[in-house]
Amino acid sequence: MLAMNYRGPRRVRIDHKPDPEILHPEDAVVRVTRSCICGSDLHLYNGSVPDTRVGMTFGHEVCGIVEEVGQDVEKLKVGDHVLVPFNIACGRCVFCQQELYGNCHESNSQATAVGGIYGYSHTAGGYDGGQAEYVRVPYANVGPTIIPEGMHPDDAVMLTDVVPTGYQAAEMGGIQPGDTVVVFGAGPVGIMAARCAWLFGAGRVIVIDHVEYRLEFVKNYAPAEVYNYKELDDVVVFLKQTTDWMGADVVIDAVGAEATGRAMQTLLGKKLHMVGGAATALHWAINSVKKGGIVSIVGVYGPIDTLVPIGNVVNKGLTIRGNQASVKRLLPRLIEHVQNGVLDPKALITHRIPLEEVSEAYKMFSAKLDNCIKPVLIPPSARV
Ligand SMILES: NC(=O)c1ccc[n+]([C@@H]2O[C@H](COP(=O)([O-])OP(=O)(O)OC[C@H]3O[C@@H](n4cnc5c(N)ncnc54)[C@H](O)[C@@H]3O)[C@@H](O)[C@H]2O)c1
Ligand SMILES: [Zn+2]
Ligand SMILES: [Zn+2]
Repeated sequence: MLAMNYRGPRRVRIDHKPDPEILHPEDAVVRVTRSCICGSDLHLYNGSVPDTRVGMTFGHEVCGIVEEVGQDVEKLKVGDHVLVPFNIACGRCVFCQQELYGNCHESNSQATAVGGIYGYSHTAGGYDGGQAEYVRVPYANVGPTIIPEGMHPDDAVMLTDVVPTGYQAAEMGGIQPGDTVVVFGAGPVGIMAARCAWLFGAGRVIVIDHVEYRLEFVKNYAPAEVYNYKELDDVVVFLKQTTDWMGADVVIDAVGAEATGRAMQTLLGKKLHMVGGAATALHWAINSVKKGGIVSIVGVYGPIDTLVPIGNVVNKGLTIRGNQASVKRLLPRLIEHVQNGVLDPKALITHRIPLEEVSEAYKMFSAKLDNCIKPVLIPPSARV
């Protein structure tokens, strides 16, 4: 089959790989009809995630058609159109039982934090992802969900990650009616977090980034007040000033460990690799939330230590919440929101690119060219 192949930092190419096979009675093989590139893939692409092995296929936001099922798969049959949550979850471990599907203990038993994730380095289990013609789907009775009749496939693929992650970012913020919510990052996740903040009763939503076309998009889509941090003397002082010097009630970090904006973080975290990435947005989040406020983190950070003002967390009495989104837990209500028109996730998809052009797609998304917000890769069989 055709599959994206990681060759080292900032080098990916299309390649031929053996078709995946059923390795366990609960596996399915899915023929991919759409797979997105995510901000999380950029951490891999840039070589920032430990144990990202050459030869790996990325891709954790996948829709497709069930091609083959193992003998113990009861919930799916060949020919079903499914969306596949990015978390690989067993459904029966102590964490899955608590609906912490992003923290499954069985799908990534070598790790103590994250569960299995498709196409996300061996720190997340080493499963090949779906930027390919086919993908092996373990625990097929648990994650894959039949796409509801009439749902646009672009909406379906956004339900595998971006929508639940944005929604959970807002949910973890514990937003109270009338709250001021600040979102760092106007990528697909930050855009969706800003949109969802309103669903929880926010009174004011502010988004910070430095990429103008993304700020313009989220200004209309969420809608939100938007600011380019490069045009502000000091983003933290500005956010305090605009909230009567109290700080925001809730701040969401939708950037993660490759933030820009602070020379010291960039030097130590991104250039010298002395700490686990540049935690600039998280730093700003902690300093711009009000005393007693909540910081919700969905931006990805690796297992290595990062530089954050922990003293301010203690002295301000902050609550910090974070996780990988628990996609399966959120799917029933989010499918309803999409069906009822409350959320329109397909509006974020700006580019449909043949799978064979995966290398160009990464370059464009990574460099934020051509006003790209969310690119989707389409394999040849889904284009006919
Ligand atoms: N927790 C989860 O379940 C989950 C799921 C999906 C993605 N993620 C993570 O969420 C983050 C965002 O994902 P995405 O797909 O939107 O990525 P993206 O790379 O498209 O967007 C990130 C945005 O942050 C902006 N940015 C950089 N530094 C900033 C700063 N200091 N302040 C404000 N904005 C800044 C960039 O310009 C960019 O627009 C990534 O870290 C990704 O790994 C987490
Ligand atoms: Zn993703
Ligand atoms: Zn589990």
